[in-house]
Amino acid sequence: MRLLITILGKATGYLTLIIVFIAAILKYLDYSDPVSFTSMAVNMESLEEDFRLQNKSCFILGATGETGRLLLKELLDRNLFSKVTLIGRRRVSFEDKAYEKLVQEVVDFEKLDDYATAFQGHDVGYCCLGTTKAKAGAEGFIRVDHDYVLKSAELAQAGGCSQFHLESSKGADKSSSFLYLKVKGQVEADIEALGFDRFSIYRPAVLLVDRQESRPGEWMARKVLSSCSFMFPTMSIPIQAVTRAMVSNTLLKPEHKTEILENKAIHTLGTNTTT
Ligand SMILES: NC(=O)c1ccc[n+]([C@@H]2O[C@H](COP(=O)([O-])OP(=O)(O)OC[C@H]3O[C@@H](n4cnc5c(N)ncnc54)[C@H](OP(=O)(O)O)[C@@H]3O)[C@@H](O)[C@H]2O)c1
Repeated sequence: MRLLITILGKATGYLTLIIVFIAAILKYLDYSDPVSFTSMAVNMESLEEDFRLQNKSCFILGATGETGRLLLKELLDRNLFSKVTLIGRRRVSFEDKAYEKLVQEVVDFEKLDDYATAFQGHDVGYCCLGTTKAKAGAEGFIRVDHDYVLKSAELAQAGGCSQFHLESSKGADKSSSFLYLKVKGQVEADIEALGFDRFSIYRPAVLLVDRQESRPGEWMARKVLSSCSFMFPTMSIPIQAVTRAMVSNTLLKPEHKTEILENKAIHTLGTNTTT
């Protein structure tokens, strides 16, 4: 019996050591994510005031989705733009008075050229558009996440928009053998080639959000990752941090025309800025 207890004790000890070792490696890898933005505790108040005085206008693509909806709320709460336009495939109704000044443009994404006017006259564009292969099939996914997004960016630029903020994905890489990452990387590259004065790419990991739509795989990943998100902060991210980072980053001056905010940078900006 004593022998069994000794063996069990040793086994538990070894197991703990192995877990700690693996956790340490993962944490190291997690933190070795390239970070292009490291500013901490930026006070946004005066930046916001300056920005408001410029009377800029913006549009949001995908404002009916999880990120887009919250991005819209963040933009309205911070009251940064004199005009906010939603461009989407359907009109949405809002009860809150804060939403009454919104402009909504309903477009057919298959015939975007016919809706060029919807993209005219905006200073800033935000894109949270996207679907999944499970929902739209491989071709449909490419159509939405690449073709619709790129065409929208082209029309926006032709209409005078100087900066474009794209919600992409962690691991986006046009050479990837995974369709999702490849498409995300390709659309990033194609939009970069358009030459916006500013192109900001956000690459969040798994979004932590209580999604209205059922996505079992994503639900499972969220459950696992949210319980250990403190340990591996770059494998997941609360959706609020993403939208807050997108808005706060708009107020900051980028070092380069194209900037990439990896998950950790989004986390830092989305949780450490104060207003
Ligand atoms: N989920 C994640 O964990 C994760 C992680 C990293 C990056 N991302 C990326 O982040 C972006 C936003 O993700 P999300 O989860 O917030 O998106 P979401 O909730 O699925 O919303 C997607 C938006 O795109 C629109 N859309 C989808 N298919 C469309 C179509 N065929 N025609 C026109 N509009 C269409 C939707 O409009 P309707 O409301 O009309 O359907 C909605 O506004 C996506 O590009 C996604 O790939 C997601």
